Amino acid sequence: MTKPGDVPTVTLPSGARMPMVGFGTWKLRGREARQAVLEALRTGYRHVDTATMYANESEVGLALADSGLQRSSVFVTTKIRPSDAGRARQVLQASLRALGTEYLDLWLVHWPPRSTSEGRQLWSELLAAHAEGLVRDVGVSNYSLAQIDDLTRSSGQQPAVNQIDWGPTLYDAGVLAGHAERAIAVEGYSSLKNTRLGDPVLTQIAAAHGVTPAQVVLRWHLEHGITVIPKSSHPDRIASNFDLFSFALTNAEQATIDGMAR
Ligand SMILES: NC(=O)c1ccc[n+]([C@@H]2O[C@H](COP(=O)([O-])OP(=O)(O)OC[C@H]3O[C@@H](n4cnc5c(N)ncnc54)[C@H](OP(=O)(O)O)[C@@H]3O)[C@@H](O)[C@H]2O)c1
Repeated sequence: MTKPGDVPTVTLPSGARMPMVGFGTWKLRGREARQAVLEALRTGYRHVDTATMYANESEVGLALADSGLQRSSVFVTTKIRPSDAGRARQVLQASLRALGTEYLDLWLVHWPPRSTSEGRQLWSELLAAHAEGLVRDVGVSNYSLAQIDDLTRSSGQQPAVNQIDWGPTLYDAGVLAGHAERAIAVEGYSSLKNTRLGDPVLTQIAAAHGVTPAQVVLRWHLEHGITVIPKSSHPDRIASNFDLFSFALTNAEQATIDGMAR
């Protein structure tokens, strides 16, 4: 059984260590959200990913409280919508209240605002919250490397993380190398949703290791240094998506899965 300490971490600029397996919460609402997040925390996940847009920050906060875990033992990410540029401080206060916490581990711009100037404005608001200690690290989501470079040039501070759509069919070695050169951590989202789990490439590799295709896909991300945040409302899947450390892919298997890129 995987224990929280088995999960590798990525060290972010603040020195905080982000567990490379987190629990995604998009589409989870109300009682189901609270139950699923609590189940994930009981399973051993110590990283939860939410967003104001998911309308479940309160349920995530309740689950954190239900778990009885110390706040410092769980890595909490939320995101701000680009349309909230200009009122980020208010939005952050609401997120903190809903989550029942005094600080965030990671705060992300959910997707790039329409204009470069709005993007820079919002980024400066995130940096202000970071400087005040309300947020340990700040980052972005759905940004291109060019958009990231613009933020870095204009503010002198680069995002710690970029959370992007990922999976075997979206594999792009150039994108990964670009983030690695800049020392920006990549989080992959919709990793399972983006993947045909019945693909024979995956089922054969899964059978060779006695695991599921979903576990193969998630393990493939980790071996590329990409943090994963699978979502599930089913306890058996919540458990198996976390159980990624009893096997390793061979270099040949890793390369075969890379070859699923379209
Ligand atoms: N930054 C962004 O713009 C952005 C966008 C999308 C997502 N995200 C984040 O990334 C997280 C993950 O992405 P996602 O929720 O879109 O997709 P995902 O985690 O890749 O896939 C979730 C779907 O796969 C199913 N599933 C989960 N485990 C499975 C398994 N072991 N075998 C088969 N099916 C399985 C789930 O169904 P059940 O629940 O029925 O198990 C659900 O339908 C989100 O929850 C959210 O936190 C961020």
